[in-house]
This record gives sequence, structure tokens and C-alpha cells, in this order.
Amino acid sequence: MTNAQKWVAAFLGLFLILFILGRVTKEEETTPVMNENYVPQQQQPSSQDADGLTLIKQNGCITCHGQDLNGTKMAPALVNIKEHWTRDGLLNYLRNPSAYSGDSRFDEYREKYKGIVMPSYGNLDVKDLGKIAEYLQTR
Ligand code: HEC
Repeated sequence: MTNAQKWVAAFLGLFLILFILGRVTKEEETTPVMNENYVPQQQQPSSQDADGLTLIKQNGCITCHGQDLNGTKMAPALVNIKEHWTRDGLLNYLRNPSAYSGDSRFDEYREKYKGIVMPSYGNLDVKDLGKIAEYLQTR
């Protein structure tokens, strides 16, 4: 290899290194994590921001309890809830309604809404159930 050839090889190598470095730094600049305003997909607001009434609509309660929760042929009106339930009592009821042997109004319900059972919502996030319970207590 002549001296000239060595120089050419050295420059080619140098350019290659600069080129690769350029690519690497460019990728870093466009990485969204570097941007303050970037919100990763999984942190996007989900049910976390939904209020009790929205959750009630989302989870189909109104199908049975009615659009305004004033009752239908299938389920009782959800009124005066606060008189009957504490927040936590209600939360536990929603998780496992069949385990609840409540007062006489439940005997009436069983008569009146024969064949229709209040589904269990144990699959919902406990925070969402809390919001639903809190909303129902305002009724
Ligand atoms: C498939 C119909 C149906 C759906 C859907 C349903 N319920 Fe019910 N719910 C009932 C029935 C029927 C009763 C009466 C009690 C019983 O038969 O178990 C009841 C009872 C209740 C009670 C007790 C009422 C009282 O007087 O104490 C509450 C509270 C309640 N439901 C809340 C909800 C909420 C909140 C949802 C949605 C997350 C929901 N229900 C979805 C049918 C339903």
C-alpha cells in the first residue's frame, strides 16, 4: 500500500465513523422521550378520568336501572341510596350482589324483578367502583 492509498483509506474510515455518529445523534433528537410534552401511550387517561355517572353509563347499569337510574321493568330505581348504604357497603355490594342478604326491600325486588339478577362488578377497578358508589350516594 502506498502512502496515498493509506490516506484515502484513513479518510474513508473517518467519514464512515462520522456518518454513523450522525445517524445515532439524529435518532436521539427525535426520540419522543426527550420531549417534555410527550405522553407515552399507556399513560393516556383512561377510566381514571371518568366520573361516577360516566362509569355507570359505560358499564351498562342504565340498561336495567334506566337512563336516569329511575328504574325500569328490569331493575329498581337507584334513589335514596345514601339512606341504605355506606360508600363501602355499596362498593362491596357491587362486587358481589348475590352474597348480600339485605333488608325486606330485597325480598320485594326478588318478587318484582323475577329472573333478573343484579350482575357482579368484581371485575371493575376498585377505584372505579368507589366512584360509582360515591355518585350513587348523591342520589
Ligand atoms: C341485568 C340488569 C342489571 C344491571 C346491568 C345492573 N343492575 Fe343493579 N340491580 C338489578 C336488579 C334486578 C336489582 C334488584 C336486586 C336484585 O334483584 O338483586 C339491582 C339492584 C341494585 C342496587 C341495590 C338497590 C337498593 O335499593 O339498594 C344497586 C345499588 C344497583 N343495582 C346498582 C347497579 C349499578 C351501579 C350497576 C352498574 C355498574 C347495576 N346496578 C347494573 C339489575 C341490574
